[in-house]
Amino acid sequence: MSKKLPEDFIFGGATAAYQAEGAIKTDGKGPVAWDKFLEENYWYTAEPASDFYHQYPVDLKLCEEFGINGIRISIAWSRIFPEGYGKVNHKGVEFYHKLFAECKKRNVEPFVTLHHFDTPEVLHSNGDFLNRENIEHFVDYAKFCFEEFTEVNYWTTFNEIGPIGDGQYLVGKFPPGIKYDFEKLFQSHHNMVLAHAKAVNLFKQNGYNGEIGMVCALPTKYPYDPSNPKDVKAAELDDIIHNKFILDATFKGEYSKETMDGVNHILKVNGGKLDLRAEDFEELKTAKDLNDFLGINYYMSDWMAEYDGETEIIHNATGNKGSSKYQIKGVGQRKANESIPRTDWDWIIYPQGLYDQISRVKRDYPNYKKIYITENGLGYKDVFEDNTVYDDARIDYIRQHLEVISDAIKDGANVKGYFLWSLMDVFSWSNGYEKRYGLFYVDFETQKRYPKKSAYWYKKVSETKEV
Ligand code: BG6
Repeated sequence: MSKKLPEDFIFGGATAAYQAEGAIKTDGKGPVAWDKFLEENYWYTAEPASDFYHQYPVDLKLCEEFGINGIRISIAWSRIFPEGYGKVNHKGVEFYHKLFAECKKRNVEPFVTLHHFDTPEVLHSNGDFLNRENIEHFVDYAKFCFEEFTEVNYWTTFNEIGPIGDGQYLVGKFPPGIKYDFEKLFQSHHNMVLAHAKAVNLFKQNGYNGEIGMVCALPTKYPYDPSNPKDVKAAELDDIIHNKFILDATFKGEYSKETMDGVNHILKVNGGKLDLRAEDFEELKTAKDLNDFLGINYYMSDWMAEYDGETEIIHNATGNKGSSKYQIKGVGQRKANESIPRTDWDWIIYPQGLYDQISRVKRDYPNYKKIYITENGLGYKDVFEDNTVYDDARIDYIRQHLEVISDAIKDGANVKGYFLWSLMDVFSWSNGYEKRYGLFYVDFETQKRYPKKSAYWYKKVSETKEV
């Protein structure tokens, strides 16, 4: 039997500046750490990406034609402030005004993120968010955007504080490429939530237009053997690393005892000490009830088992199934039943995990107000034939996740919209151009767009609100 989604539900598509725009040196854009990092460590660059910088009218027209009434866009900080702060690049400002005007023309609501993994190079090389001065630069940049782009109704400060820290300081797949450093990981999480809180407090104090929230990636963590207390502990600790630390700070304004016990244990085993100041918690406490929404990015769940050895994490960047490894000293290791489906990049497909995360937010953080599922989708080696992609696996993936969202709404969760990652094909930070997610296939040479089978399916769901 089909399931219903509310009449006012947003059926959106998601993008991010660095993964979509291309034009990384155009019209005065300043460099970001990724420019060099990709050149030095990967086999691709962010040029041309999906050339959204020039193709956005085409993409927004497609949105209109395919019933997509919301789009996640991020502003490239270094297009506005090429050096991170100081001198404004007016051409960058003009670009985003034109982009938002086009959204309006096509009746597509933009949900605008201020930071989607792309700290300006100047600030990145002086410590990124580990340097507290950069918190203030971020807040100044946010203030500039709130005052300049009054046409925006939905603001998000950060996209996925968890995976940024993870990529930068744990797995080492994001610049600066540091591995297994838990002090930097948690400090970066803390400083970024603090930057979020300061931006939210400023937004509300000054009464700017619209709503503001944060986007978190929330992979669900289950124990491999629920009857083994060591597996249960491993799941709890991994949840603290990726989810709970950030959610606590955002919605409680403090770290619960359970969270701090976990963090202290991890730092004791792996080394490190955090700089958490009393004044930080004043900001966090003020902001905790001011978030208008939480954006949840959900792709996968993990099962965790006990582990006694040294830390070793191997990232599967090529889609060679089974080539990843995740085992952390004093925490645990990933170990899932072979029967649970996973992608070629070893991401476990488990829609129930999304239902469980929504329920967890509702139960543990009842001041969340509203949820948008700001990313969800299937990364796949698409086969382009007959000028399309017959992506039945992607349709199946989206359908199953929309079904559990419908269930969660029925069970009392306030979920207001869904943004498929990604609207059109974009490049993937640490996996290149072959891992595609889009509703629209992009020929990266000609920059032509081709609707996939999933785009026609999504259009129907958006029209009927039935899945
Ligand atoms: C999220 C990010 O982590 O997942 C996106 O917000 C990203 O920017 C998406 O592209 C999919 O991840 P990946 O690694 O497959 O590109």
